[in-house]
Amino acid sequence: MPDDRDRRLGHGLRCRGASHLFQPLVDRRGGGCRVRTLTSKSLARRIVISVMLGLSLILTIFGLVSSWTVDQMVQSVYRERLLLAKTIAEHVDDILLYSRGELTRTAQLLALDSTDQISADQKEILLRASHDMGTFATIALVGSNGNVIWIDPPGASMAVGMLDSPALTTALKTGATQIGELPGPTAGTGPLASVNVPVVDGTGRVSAVLSAEINPRDRTLSLIPASKVEEAASMALMNTDGRVVAGTPLDPRDVHAHRLLLSNLMSTIRPGVVIHSAWANTPGHLVAYAPVPSLPTWGVVIEQSRDVAFAASQDFQRYLLLAGVVALVTAISLAWLDARRVTRPLQTLAAVAERFAAGQLDEKVRIERADEVGVLAHAFETMRQQLKRSLDEIESYNRELAARVELRTREVENRNRQLAATNAIAATVSSSLETNAILVHALERVLDVTGLEYGNFLLARSTGNGAMGELDRIGPPLGNRQCENDCLCTKAMREAIPVLARDVRSEARATVCHEAGLKSVVAVPLHAHEHVLGVLFLGSSTERSFEQRDLDALSAIGQQIGMALANARLFEEVQAREQARVRLIEQIIAAQEGERQRIARDLHDSTGQSLSAIIMGLEAMEEIGTSDEARLTQRVERTKELARNALTDLRELVFDLRPIALDDLGLVPALRAHADRHLGERGVLVSFESRGLKERLPSRLETSLFRVLQEAVNNVAKHAYARSVSIRLLRVDKEFTAVVEDDGVGFDPTTVHRPTHPERGLGLLGIRERIEMLGGSVQVESAPGAGTKVSIHLSLSGFERGTL
Ligand SMILES: Nc1ncnc2c1ncn2[C@@H]1O[C@H](COP(=O)(O)OP(=O)(O)O)[C@@H](O)[C@H]1O
Ligand SMILES: [Mg+2]
Repeated sequence: MPDDRDRRLGHGLRCRGASHLFQPLVDRRGGGCRVRTLTSKSLARRIVISVMLGLSLILTIFGLVSSWTVDQMVQSVYRERLLLAKTIAEHVDDILLYSRGELTRTAQLLALDSTDQISADQKEILLRASHDMGTFATIALVGSNGNVIWIDPPGASMAVGMLDSPALTTALKTGATQIGELPGPTAGTGPLASVNVPVVDGTGRVSAVLSAEINPRDRTLSLIPASKVEEAASMALMNTDGRVVAGTPLDPRDVHAHRLLLSNLMSTIRPGVVIHSAWANTPGHLVAYAPVPSLPTWGVVIEQSRDVAFAASQDFQRYLLLAGVVALVTAISLAWLDARRVTRPLQTLAAVAERFAAGQLDEKVRIERADEVGVLAHAFETMRQQLKRSLDEIESYNRELAARVELRTREVENRNRQLAATNAIAATVSSSLETNAILVHALERVLDVTGLEYGNFLLARSTGNGAMGELDRIGPPLGNRQCENDCLCTKAMREAIPVLARDVRSEARATVCHEAGLKSVVAVPLHAHEHVLGVLFLGSSTERSFEQRDLDALSAIGQQIGMALANARLFEEVQAREQARVRLIEQIIAAQEGERQRIARDLHDSTGQSLSAIIMGLEAMEEIGTSDEARLTQRVERTKELARNALTDLRELVFDLRPIALDDLGLVPALRAHADRHLGERGVLVSFESRGLKERLPSRLETSLFRVLQEAVNNVAKHAYARSVSIRLLRVDKEFTAVVEDDGVGFDPTTVHRPTHPERGLGLLGIRERIEMLGGSVQVESAPGAGTKVSIHLSLSGFERGTL
């Protein structure tokens, strides 16, 4: 089914599979995609056929008119011949009638009686008549008995059989004028005409007959006017016997040939004209016949070859035919030329259209004409230019599109590679929680995916107060020289962005890199949340161009490693804390045991000893009794002293276990007493300050805070070698702050909780544990030689009296 578009194209179908913008019309027959070109041949043929049809019509009309004209010409030839025959016949008739008239007049002049004698007057009349008539061969006056009374020329004999001629006889008998035929005077000559006019006497009886012989061959008669005889025509006066009376002697064969026809014609005694062909396959003859009215046995025959007679019409016909053929050929040629003139440019245009359809739009349409074809060609040229423009635009758009697609593809590929690299590194770094393992494996991977040769990590050491300290290099060292403070790595660290040197020679911060033989280097910060934990340093001994997307990818990698590093550190910290917690518990248990031992020992050593001494004193007093009052008193005094010492020891023991002051007087007096006892007694100047703590805190909170601050004070006593210590307790509304600050030797807080100090840090850890359990925070600020400041911050808002 052709689609809408196909239907719009009429019966032509779009060529499926053809890739051109413009599709030629196709013929589906044969299944293939055959181009059915509307060739201009058929158009030319149609034009020629149309012209020929028109011409045929014109020629038919022309032919009909011509044939009518030819017919008219033929008819005119017939008429002419007949007229000529008639004219000659009338001429002969005129002569005969003239003769008859002359003879009649003469006969009337002759007053003849029944004698055979004529008078001189009569002779004179006859002579004049003979002279006037002149043309007669012989004129005679024949008496009623058949004798010749008078004859002129004198001595001339009457023509053969003249006297016996039926005409003469009849005239004599009937007394009526008779015109008849006479045989020729001699054998072989043509017949003669005889005019017989009766001469009546006074009584009215026919006394004689005035008879005249007329020889039509007598030139003076000029019966057949020579001028009227056309060329190649025979003209003759003939009698019914077929004998030529006068005129051009006919070909005897013709006479023979036409005899039957002539006799037929003559028998009708009417003029006529026929075409007669004597023999088959011989050219016909035109035969015209006109009888002589006064002598019907005579008639004028004009015979002419048909070809000659109709030469003019035939010539006319021939010329017409020739002219028709020439006109037809000329017209067809002109039509053909004209058709070609039309179809040539159409062919060219069709070829142009096919070129367009094939997408060839470079060649100009060169048809310079002022007619419609020229206009069409101009429109084609305009169309070609527009199509070319459109095609060029489409092509350039396609090229641009292809370039963009390629660029995009490359970007996507790069992105994929980067993603793959980042994923691989992410997988690597997340496979371990051990800092060193992470860094080693990550470095291997990074060098692997970047194709760079050198790399290491620089990790910032924490100062404990949140600031970054020195950088630890992890990985192969870079040359023998240490980096200066302001190198690329520190810059990357400070600015938290990748820092690149494509050519280290032109980078002042990269002199060490240059000396180490590197050409291109890049320092990528290791991000973890808001912090930069260190730098990934990468280098190549050849010059490498890092594009922005490479830097982006490296940034992402740096972030991955940074996060992994932070996680690992967190994990290590948690692990260390866990270990510390275990150690703390063990220590607490051990401390408890030790405390018990100490108490047992103290009780045994001091209180037990004192009680034993007191018992021994009392026993001694019992022995002394009242006998020796002085000794007794002394003993009593000594036993009292022992008992007092024992009480003091006991009190101290109890105080150490839990200061009674804490329960009785509260946190501030208890802590002050503890500081005085442990620090003051050692010569450390204690400055104690408390504000906003008149009101007692919840009992368990007081205990926890006392234990925490007791540890801080103990640490000063144990480790600080301080000259003075400042203890400040401050409560503002619900906020509680406590600071224990000494000017002692100080220490590095970052190393305290590390596994390298397994035995240390449990006191500080205990402080942190307790405070964090209460929802507060602890800050330990210290550095070797710079004293130590332990700050505790706690919100009291959650604690109501008695809840703890
Ligand atoms: N005020 C201080 N002055 C100097 N060093 C201190 C001070 N407080 C703590 N330290 C150091 O921190 C370490 C850890 O203290 P701590 O956790 O209380 O454990 P311990 O007191 O059992 O050693 C101590 O060993 C000491 O080196
Ligand atoms: Mg301690």
